[in-house]
Amino acid sequence: METLKNKVGRTITAIVVIILLLVGSVGYIAWYNLFREVPTYYESTEEHFKYGSIGTENAEGIPYWIWLVLPRLFPEKLPGSGGYTSLGLTWEEGKETPVGISKKTIGFPRQGITCAVCHTATYRKTAKDKPVIVPTGPAIKFDAQSYTRFLLESASDPRFTSNYILPAIEYNHEFSFVEKLLYRYLIIPQTKKALLEQQETLAWMDSRPNWGPGRIDPFNPVKFRTLGLPLDDTIGNSDMMPLWNQKQHQGFALHWDGLETSLTETVNTGAIGDGATKDAINIPGLQRVEEYITNLDPPKYPFSIDSALASRGSKIFDSNCASCHAFGGEKTGTVIPIEEVGTDRHRLDMWTKQAADTYNEFAEGYDFDFDNLRKTDGYVSVSLDGLWLRAPYLHNGSVPNLIDLLETPENRTNVFYRGYDVYDPENVGFVAQGSEAEKVGFKYDTRVAANGNQGHLYGTDLSSGEKKALIEYLKTL
Ligand code: HEC
Ligand code: HEC
Repeated sequence: METLKNKVGRTITAIVVIILLLVGSVGYIAWYNLFREVPTYYESTEEHFKYGSIGTENAEGIPYWIWLVLPRLFPEKLPGSGGYTSLGLTWEEGKETPVGISKKTIGFPRQGITCAVCHTATYRKTAKDKPVIVPTGPAIKFDAQSYTRFLLESASDPRFTSNYILPAIEYNHEFSFVEKLLYRYLIIPQTKKALLEQQETLAWMDSRPNWGPGRIDPFNPVKFRTLGLPLDDTIGNSDMMPLWNQKQHQGFALHWDGLETSLTETVNTGAIGDGATKDAINIPGLQRVEEYITNLDPPKYPFSIDSALASRGSKIFDSNCASCHAFGGEKTGTVIPIEEVGTDRHRLDMWTKQAADTYNEFAEGYDFDFDNLRKTDGYVSVSLDGLWLRAPYLHNGSVPNLIDLLETPENRTNVFYRGYDVYDPENVGFVAQGSEAEKVGFKYDTRVAANGNQGHLYGTDLSSGEKKALIEYLKTL
C-alpha cells in the first residue's frame, strides 16, 4: 500500500519537474528568440567584405524587419524616393540588404554596418549607365549622417509604435505566435528606446556643419561615445579613403593625419568606431577583410588615356610630386607638417594626444589590443594609386577634380555639388556642377568651417601644357 507521504512526495516531485520544464522551456524560448547567435559565412571574400558581419549587430544593430520597413513608414523623412538608396546606399539586385549592411541572427535577424558602407565606390561613365560598384573604393554617395538622422527621427516620431510597425512587417514576413508577442511588447519598444538614447549621444553633431555624402566626422563619435571624453568644439569632417592595394602601402602612416601606424589596428578600430563592442568584434572576419584590402589592386581608369602625353607627364610627376607620392618616394606615406602642406587644419585639430592615449588603453587585456594610436602635426602624403576614383580631393574633399587641384586656391571652385556618381573625364573627378549634380548632390561650400580648400600648392605653378601632361599621367596611377 502506498502511504500518503509517498503520494504527496510524488506529487511534489511532479510539480517541481513541471515547473522546471516550464521555466526551462520559457528560458529556452527566450534564449532562442532573443540571444541565439547564427554565424554568417560568405565563401567569396568580396561578398564577405560587402555583407559579412564585423560584430556591429549586437550593440547597435537594428532588428532587420523593423529596419526594412522604416523607409515605407516614414518616407517623408528621406531626401527622395527609393528608400535607403536615396541616402546613397547601393542595393544590388536580389540582395536582402544594400552593400555595407550585414544581416545576422542574434535571437532575431538584426542588421549592422560593415566596412563596405563607407569603403565601396560607385561610378557611371554616363548618366544612362548602371553604376559600376568598386569594393574598397571610397563611398561617394553614401550620406552616413543623413542615414543616422533618418533612423533617429523615425524613432522619435510618435507613430513609431508596435501598432504602426507590426502590420508593415507582416506584409513581408509571417511571424510565429511567440515572435509576434516579442516584437509587440519587447523588441519594438526597446528599439525605440535604444535609438532615442543614441540620439542624445549624437546631439553634438547638430551644432556643427553637415558632413554631406562621402564624408563623416570619423573620430568625434569615438572620442565622445566610445572613450567617454568630454565634448569639445572640434570639427573632424573628412573624406572616405580607399582601402585597396595595402600591400604597396607597407609602413605608411594611416588615416589622413597618420594617427595610426598599424594596419591591423586600423582595421579593428574601424569596427569599434562602427559600433562593434570589445566582446562582439569579429576578429577572424576582420582578418579576412585585412587580407582582402592588402591584395586587391586599384581599379584602372575606365576612359582612354593618351599614352605619349602621359609619358611626358610622368617626368613632370618625377620632379614635382614623386618624393611625396610615388612608391619608394622618400616622404611617401609620412606626415607632412601642416605648416608645409597648408591645407585646412580642422581635421588635424580634432584628434588629440589625450584621445590617442585613451584609445591605446581601451582594449587592454584583449588580444586585439591597441598600442599605435598617436597625435601628429600634419597630413599624410597619401599614395595616389587609383587616384581617379579618389575624387573629390584632399582630406576634406574640398577640391572637386584634378584640374582644380593644380590651380592656386583663389582659382579653385568655391561651391560645387558632391554625391553624384557620374564621372567627368575632362576635369578628372565626378560631375560636380549642373542641374543633375545639383539635384542629387550636396552643396559643398568651401567657406564653411572645416571645408577650406587652401594649401597643397604643389604643381600650381606649372605651365598649362605641363599640367595637361601631368594630369594624363595621374590617370594611369
Ligand atoms: C562610417 C564610415 C566608415 C566605416 C563604416 C569604416 N570606415 Fe574606414 N575610414 C572612413 C573614413 C572617413 C576614413 C578616413 C578618416 C580620417 O582619417 O579622417 C577611413 C580610413 C580608413 C583606413 C585608413 C586608410 C589609409 O590609407 O590611411 C582604413 C585602413 C580603414 N578605414 C579601414 C576600415 C575597415 C577595415 C572598416 C571596417 C571594419 C572601416 N574602415 C569602416 C570611414 C569608414
Ligand atoms: C611635400 C610633399 C608633397 C608634394 C611634393 C606633393 N604632395 Fe600631394 N599631398 C601631400 C599631402 C600631405 C597630401 C594630403 C593633404 C590633405 O589631404 O590635406 C597630398 C594630397 C594630394 C592629393 C589628394 C589625394 C586624395 O586622395 O584626395 C593629390 C591628388 C595630390 N596630393 C597630388 C599631388 C601632385 C600631382 C603633386 C605634384 C605636382 C603633389 N601632390 C606634390 C603632399 C605632397
